[in-house]
Amino acid sequence: MTEGPIESRSFIEGDEQIWLERARAGSIPRHIGFIMDGNGRWAQRRGLPRTEGHRAGVESLRAVIPALINLGVPFATFYAFSTENWKRPSEEVHFLFDLLVQYSKEDRRELTERGVKLRAIGQVDELPAAVRAAIWELERETSRGTNLTVNVALNYGGRQEILRAVKDIARSFAAGEIDLEKLSEAEFAAYLYTAGQPDPDLIIRTSGEMRLSNFLPWQGTYSELYFTEVLWPEFRPVHLYKAVVDYAGRRRRFGGIEA
Ligand code: IPE
Ligand code: IPE
Ligand code: MG
Repeated sequence: MTEGPIESRSFIEGDEQIWLERARAGSIPRHIGFIMDGNGRWAQRRGLPRTEGHRAGVESLRAVIPALINLGVPFATFYAFSTENWKRPSEEVHFLFDLLVQYSKEDRRELTERGVKLRAIGQVDELPAAVRAAIWELERETSRGTNLTVNVALNYGGRQEILRAVKDIARSFAAGEIDLEKLSEAEFAAYLYTAGQPDPDLIIRTSGEMRLSNFLPWQGTYSELYFTEVLWPEFRPVHLYKAVVDYAGRRRRFGGIEA
């Protein structure tokens, strides 16, 4: 091995342990957002129905959660169903909901044992009763988790989230509870689903699409964006570690200049 830059020679591609160590040596994001995209294409490339891609995507979620704990990332948000995803055929929408109910039953114990605290963010009250019940149960059972907070964005839309916050603020104002002139960005953020959580330092989107699709518009204004061609059902811890290594190399200026 004499060709190529030192960077690519000193690390074995696909070696999970090496990438984990390399990621751990750098700056660790406090919050990572995942736009889990490419399930349908993954299935179609295999001649399978799209729904099989969603089923396989659950395995990626299962693999990534312990990897986040390995890294010491305290918050993660997974985009599971957007307010726009209702445009899909109802069989696919219901398959996704059924998968969620199944996941919540199968993984409840493991999540609790790993110290994961799971929360759903989005217009959960619009979801079918069985889904709401499964979420409620999962949130309740995992409420004492302290290793990793996982937000599952379900029937989530960033514009809807902001509009909802504005309506809540208007109600508080009408009730004489807030002084609009003094309302700060931090106080506004307390009306969002992510109240009390750090903004995502890093947003990862799989499948090669380079857009945010209504994901965390308020919280993501200064997020580092990482796009990979890897389809979500193929996404494994090594891909997460590589993304975190890439993140650690970014120069975040937040509008300022470097020291
Ligand atoms: C992401 O995969 C999962 C959801 C949006 C629920 P897609 O289903 O969007 O997969 P593609 O983008 O069609 O391949
Ligand atoms: C974004 O993926 C939503 C989720 C991953 C849940 P989509 O596949 O729905 O996004 P678009 O339609 O390509 O923007
Ligand atoms: Mg998609």
